[in-house]
Amino acid sequence: MLTSEINFNDIWGIQGIPVSQMEQNDQDVYITGSGGLGLIVAVGSEVLREGRLKVGDMVTVYSGQSDLLSPQAALDPMFCDFRIQGYETGDGSHQQFMVAQAPQCHKKPQDLTLEAAGSYVLNVGTVYRALFTTLQIESGKSIFIEGAATGTGNEALKIAIKSGLNVIGLVSSEERGKQIEAKGAKYINRKDKSLEKIFTKIPEKPSDIKKWAKDGETFLKKVKSLNGGKLVDYAVSHAGEQSFPRTFQALAQGGTLTFYGASSGYHFTFLGKKGTSTPDAMLSKIRFRANESALCYYGTSVDKSGIVDEVGLEIIETLRERKARIVVACYTDAQKEFIESLGFGDAIKGVVSLESMKRRYQDDFEWQAPMKALPDARKETAKFKEAVQEFNEKTLKPFGSEVGKALRSPDNPRGNPDIVFERAGHDALAVSTAVVKPFTGKVIYCEEMNGKRYSFYAPQVWMRQRRIYMPSANIFGTHLCNAYEVSVMNDMVDAGLIEISEPYVVSFDEIPQAHQDMWENKHKAGNYVGNHCLPQLGLKTKEELFNAWSLKISMGRK
Ligand SMILES: NC(=O)c1ccc[n+]([C@@H]2O[C@H](COP(=O)([O-])OP(=O)(O)OC[C@H]3O[C@@H](n4cnc5c(N)ncnc54)[C@H](OP(=O)(O)O)[C@@H]3O)[C@@H](O)[C@H]2O)c1
Repeated sequence: MLTSEINFNDIWGIQGIPVSQMEQNDQDVYITGSGGLGLIVAVGSEVLREGRLKVGDMVTVYSGQSDLLSPQAALDPMFCDFRIQGYETGDGSHQQFMVAQAPQCHKKPQDLTLEAAGSYVLNVGTVYRALFTTLQIESGKSIFIEGAATGTGNEALKIAIKSGLNVIGLVSSEERGKQIEAKGAKYINRKDKSLEKIFTKIPEKPSDIKKWAKDGETFLKKVKSLNGGKLVDYAVSHAGEQSFPRTFQALAQGGTLTFYGASSGYHFTFLGKKGTSTPDAMLSKIRFRANESALCYYGTSVDKSGIVDEVGLEIIETLRERKARIVVACYTDAQKEFIESLGFGDAIKGVVSLESMKRRYQDDFEWQAPMKALPDARKETAKFKEAVQEFNEKTLKPFGSEVGKALRSPDNPRGNPDIVFERAGHDALAVSTAVVKPFTGKVIYCEEMNGKRYSFYAPQVWMRQRRIYMPSANIFGTHLCNAYEVSVMNDMVDAGLIEISEPYVVSFDEIPQAHQDMWENKHKAGNYVGNHCLPQLGLKTKEELFNAWSLKISMGRK
């Protein structure tokens, strides 16, 4: 490797948050670093046969790896055992020699300096997928972007401006605000006196929730004043549980938020927006297909002893008409008996009663709906991990296995449902987003959610790219990008449609300090790169590099 990208992901890897790769893979050594610029020193026989890459090529290396032989790879290689090298594997790019899969290696965009070519793929690739694949941004619309002066946020800002959107960036100082204003964006300074206290999670008590909503009025007014009197069409979030609820609030009716990280915490909360739909309209919205499987909840709009849940019945009936394979989760045994007595026939593959699960599992089952708040992952890492594990062991696994029993098949061994039909009257979203199929799974609502608090565990949504559809807004997880997206992105770089900023270059030995600066939010430029062996900056080709090396060697000899 000639250079390696220095990213926030390294820091999560080093800290073992949310999971430690060393513990998970029983490794004593863990090398971080996701992507960079490399010189190929050896290729495998299949790569040689394919002919695209050869020994001596200088390539921009993207960090996404996957099971390339899986049939799912044709849909998207990101759906097949996808992992980010150096973050989810211990053989990253902060080392001299690294093994990569062939689709990771891309021709270097010709106009970039070598240091720039080795600095951008993780950040810009993530933003490329988030904007073009996940949000499918359209010109003339508006977008709100967190952390818009640094890292991924700044890349998103530049691409969104070039794509003809009105961009509002969230920043933490007037200085950062002025920087993005100079690029053509508008800004909101979250440390401004009128706003500094409002970026918090949604409180649990209904009276506190009302106050939280009221406290956001100044912020929403600012968003509107910067966007022709309206809230925004799209939002990009990555700064975590503190900023996510306000960013979601900034979305207009029908808007979509995407997120790919959670720097300030993983326990996401948001306030439901005004609007209702019907089960049928929501199934059309997600293009539901016959024979897909659906988990739906029953009993949320009745009291604990109630049996007839009108909306629940309408959802089941609609799913049956759509030829879904249905599993119903009820709160009580009486509700389960009632559903089983209704003669829905073959459409219902299973009915789960939370009451009977509690009886059977006793202390080994806890219905965490809503999911409990998590300890601060940065300050109380061990407690944070324990809390996540408790949710996984006592809530997710028992419930997932009850649902899975009814839906298991050879290509879906865990029996994850294709969709979960969620209900506005309870907050089981953390369970639903973890149980629904990874990558293609969708959680949908049709009832009025206005003013109610919902919560979920962020990595289950972004890393598995799950989606939440509500009557008047959507939340879509997104994660890095695939190799095809890298090649289209690089074409856009070559065509001048995506601008790669010159990175802040540090020597190999300074990489730990660069990580520390990022951790403390004191880092300087948008992109950081570690220089392993470039003899000088500003070179653009392999020939220039070889000449500079030979010059250095001959000067050394003199
Ligand atoms: N899923 C993926 O494939 C993927 C890829 C790349 C990055 N990520 C993740 O995305 C996140 C951001 O990465 P990055 O490289 O853009 O990091 P970065 O350069 O450090 O930018 C993060 C920015 O977020 C803002 N911020 C921090 N805490 C905040 C808070 N509590 N409220 C509001 N804003 C806050 C700060 O800007 P201001 O102080 O100016 O507001 C900070 O500069 C990281 O967690 C990273 O791991 C994920």
